[in-house]
Amino acid sequence: MAHRIAFIGFGGVGQGLADIILDQGKELKEKEGLDLQKVFETIHSTGALNEYPESPGLIKGLDSLQTIKQTNADTIVEVTFTDVRTGQPAIDHCKAAFQSGKNVVTTNKGPIALAYRGLSKLAEEKGVFFGFEGTVMSGTPALRMPLTALAGNEITEIRGIFNGTSNYMLTRMEEGSSFDGALKEAQDNGFAEADPTNDIEGYDVRYKVVILANYVMGLQIMVEDVSCKGISHLTAQDMDAAKLNGERWKLIGTIKKENGNVKACVGPERIPLTDPLASITGAINAVTYTCNLAGPITLAGAGAGLKETGFSLLIDLIHFHRAKKAVTT
Ligand code: HSE
Repeated sequence: MAHRIAFIGFGGVGQGLADIILDQGKELKEKEGLDLQKVFETIHSTGALNEYPESPGLIKGLDSLQTIKQTNADTIVEVTFTDVRTGQPAIDHCKAAFQSGKNVVTTNKGPIALAYRGLSKLAEEKGVFFGFEGTVMSGTPALRMPLTALAGNEITEIRGIFNGTSNYMLTRMEEGSSFDGALKEAQDNGFAEADPTNDIEGYDVRYKVVILANYVMGLQIMVEDVSCKGISHLTAQDMDAAKLNGERWKLIGTIKKENGNVKACVGPERIPLTDPLASITGAINAVTYTCNLAGPITLAGAGAGLKETGFSLLIDLIHFHRAKKAVTT
């Protein structure tokens, strides 16, 4: 069955998904719309899609909201730049899609961290799908895995390493790099956000903590409820002191339910080497779910990367199709 998708934004993550569809997909292959090979040729030769050759049915010049409302696509792939303070324009993109009866898959943290309840309610009212697996740990199923494979447990705590840049920097600092040198390497490797303040001051993790708390644990917390400290004050001496004590610094995001209260925080912690999170080095992310029945379960994997984040959009689309098929068969 054909599934028409419209990309709103076509930076690295959008190209990551298009690349997967192009390479991978006999059964994923789209039957109509843009010629993806030509899309890549245009992007690589001109840096933008405006120069895509004129062809029958092609409409150019619409802004993003007009495109969302007027396209004949079933699903909007929302991969625009995330303004994490306002969540815009991605929040308005999601609303416009739902209001016009279209599904949304996105990797944008802003709308989910800032407006999840309202958006998911609207999607439900309109009977459309809202997928956002890639907002936490890219294609590593940090959101869907606990809700599906761990269903039936009460998850009392979620604790993890949710930022690849800062984890990479801490690993390199332990090995003797300076803070600035380690940051430069993370930027050169493409892990860091456009403004690395989000990575090193913990703001990126704070958004992921809110998403996990509200979506996986069913809580209702806001960004301001999460205390937040980054790693910019840590020095080579701090690394050495931890090492001497058989410990390691990690930037940890935590949500913990205790006696009816919820504690949510982000901050650097010195953790013992026996903690499963201590062995997570470089740009890898990991999360431990403390379950009342299954005990602690740790999931580790990529937290960023174009192909990995592109995959998160694909798995949302596949999940949507499977769920739809299950309802209609
Ligand atoms: N800059 C983020 C990181 C990308 O380093 O983990 C994924 O949110």
